Amino acid sequence: MSRWDENRAKRMKWWHDAKFGMFVHWGLYSHYGKGEQVVVRDHMPLEEYTSLADEFKPNEGWADRLAEQAVRSGAKYVVLTTRHHDGYCLWDTTTDEFNAAKTGPGRDLIAEYVEALRKRDLRVGFYYSLPNWRWHGWWDTERYAHELPLIRQEVHDQVEELMTNYGLVDILWYDIPQPPGARSPGSFGFSPNPAASSAAEFYESERLNARVRELQPGILINNRSGLPEDFGTPEQHVTPEEGGRAWESCMTINFAPNWGCVHRSVADKTPGQILYHFVQAVRIGGNFLFNVGPDGQGEVIDRDGAALRLIGDWLKRNGEAIYGTAPGKIYETPGQGACYHYGMFTEKGTTGYLTLFYYPKEFLVISKIGGEVRSAEILGTGQKLEVEPMKNRRWRISGLPEEMPDELAAVVKIEFAEPPYLIHWDNAEWLDGGL
Ligand code: GLC
Repeated sequence: MSRWDENRAKRMKWWHDAKFGMFVHWGLYSHYGKGEQVVVRDHMPLEEYTSLADEFKPNEGWADRLAEQAVRSGAKYVVLTTRHHDGYCLWDTTTDEFNAAKTGPGRDLIAEYVEALRKRDLRVGFYYSLPNWRWHGWWDTERYAHELPLIRQEVHDQVEELMTNYGLVDILWYDIPQPPGARSPGSFGFSPNPAASSAAEFYESERLNARVRELQPGILINNRSGLPEDFGTPEQHVTPEEGGRAWESCMTINFAPNWGCVHRSVADKTPGQILYHFVQAVRIGGNFLFNVGPDGQGEVIDRDGAALRLIGDWLKRNGEAIYGTAPGKIYETPGQGACYHYGMFTEKGTTGYLTLFYYPKEFLVISKIGGEVRSAEILGTGQKLEVEPMKNRRWRISGLPEEMPDELAAVVKIEFAEPPYLIHWDNAEWLDGGL
């Protein structure tokens, strides 16, 4: 391992152990309750959108309540949209009057956010959108070519402020690795005319991120400035990065493509589905960044709050199966793997945790996994289970209570005689019980 990789592994240790973060899409757009891209999706003239800024009046104490929800949900870090594609800055920036301190709120909302997180030992993440759709030059790179250097400079200046004025920042989460003039989300019908061949080239991301690391040596940076940096960001799906790189799946509750507040959504994932994606990410080495979209006052909406509470309660009972685990040898590929018809294994040394995504009657069978099973119990209740060897190096684990011992998914904690591994075989003898 190179010195740089060693240093990265050290910087990322807390993040790998943390597994679970809360993503927060919140800004001026939250007032409408139509997602975070309403300006471009509804094709609103700027005047119509920006006139809203004086109506944006977040409640006092929003940040404390948000941070409280994060703690309750078991999240160890939070990533908040400091600016989204509308360019509205939640902090008191000197670069643009269109910010929270100089419009409706009259306060630096990022200062409030950071303080609320720190009080609770939550790690601080800043989402930052490279696009600012309010520049004409973002859309028309030829006619407004003179704006291009200003667009780049604005990004450098704003990132500099964010990295300087709020103490320790743990994560910088860029969005949209595209240069001005490229087709961006929501811009259907738009004829692209990119200002550069890549975001990294246009924004001079290498210089930008070198400065970030100078100001915040411990920071983790995602891959959306057009450079790989510390971790990948599969969006709305759980897929590991190539080459063993670190990654984090970000996901909304709703299936519809909104990250900002939406009202009365009818196509939402169930708590079981959310947990399924979460455990799926963790078992193959990823983190899970679960999104909420607070309302215009900054309050987490009931739907999101209910989901956070359920996950948090589950983690209280079963967190041992998540935090600090690391993929071992049970899975050799991200594909299904042994015992997948019961659920998913997470691993810590000689212990395997099987989160049951269906609850079997009376007993379950551990197959295709070695070495010897020493003991098993229900993680959430500590109830001991019986373990008996069976043919084909299988283990029957019985004594499961008739009532499912968890309101979401029960976890069976299994002690092996050695770190568990996948059993390989290359003949048909298992049909005769001779494995
Ligand atoms: C997509 C969306 C953007 C959102 C982001 C979160 O890029 O277009 O609005 O902030 O996903 O990952």
